[in-house]
Amino acid sequence: PAAGTDPDTLARTAAAELTTALGDGHDVAVVMGSGWAPAADAFGAAEGAVAIGDLPGFAAPTAVGHGGQVRSVRVGERRVLLFLGRTHLYEGRGVEPVVHGIRTAAAAGVRTVVLTNAAGGLAPEHRVGQAVLVSDHLNLTARSPLVGATFVDLTDLYSARLRELAREIEPDLTEGVYAALPGPHYETPAEIRMLRTLGADLVGMSTALEAIAARAAGLEVLGLSMVTNAAAGITGEKLDHEEVLAAGKAAAGRLGRFLVEFTGRLP
Ligand code: HPA
Repeated sequence: PAAGTDPDTLARTAAAELTTALGDGHDVAVVMGSGWAPAADAFGAAEGAVAIGDLPGFAAPTAVGHGGQVRSVRVGERRVLLFLGRTHLYEGRGVEPVVHGIRTAAAAGVRTVVLTNAAGGLAPEHRVGQAVLVSDHLNLTARSPLVGATFVDLTDLYSARLRELAREIEPDLTEGVYAALPGPHYETPAEIRMLRTLGADLVGMSTALEAIAARAAGLEVLGLSMVTNAAAGITGEKLDHEEVLAAGKAAAGRLGRFLVEFTGRLP
């Protein structure tokens, strides 16, 4: 497609190629964040896969540890699109590539999106490897994926009934407010204190813009963070991207099994 193609047209073009490659009738898209790629393997053998970079409007993701694939898997009666790898705002390509996967999944007909991410934990009781449901977000990127007079309501953006469904599977899952920052640097301890004051429980560099785009496209959203580290200044430890990825890997199998169960139970 020509440069300057509007985002919805580009998403429809990508969705057409996606369904040519993987078939149609997908119910749900699961976006795998940093460190979650091993969780994708819990879904078992894919019925098909495409390289993300081969679809219109996508570029191969750049961050270390991010796969670059869309897989089609089946869980019971549900057809699931697994997005391994996402585009982040910090890659410098602007907002549209960040939400293109969501718009493509919506154009391909999914009704639900599960946004996973790796996050720093702000609460002292957060443990590395713990999964936390996103109850709401603070979008501190100063950006929106929407342009023009689209005054989309974001009340209950992270679906209460999907959080309830998640807790039917894992009753101990806690919830938290996710603060989305542009990155790519980690926060300063002072910024983390500020975020706590603002009501954040988790901090990361994704998810919020995708959730907004999903709501605008009429999708129901579940957000799930994996705490990969205590946020800056909480323990005094330095933050290391490799350690963040390693923590993700260690917890990924368990979280993958949760995601399989969750997608299989979707209404
Ligand atoms: N801050 C921001 N993003 C993150 C973090 C963090 O501490 N951990 C994983 N992603």
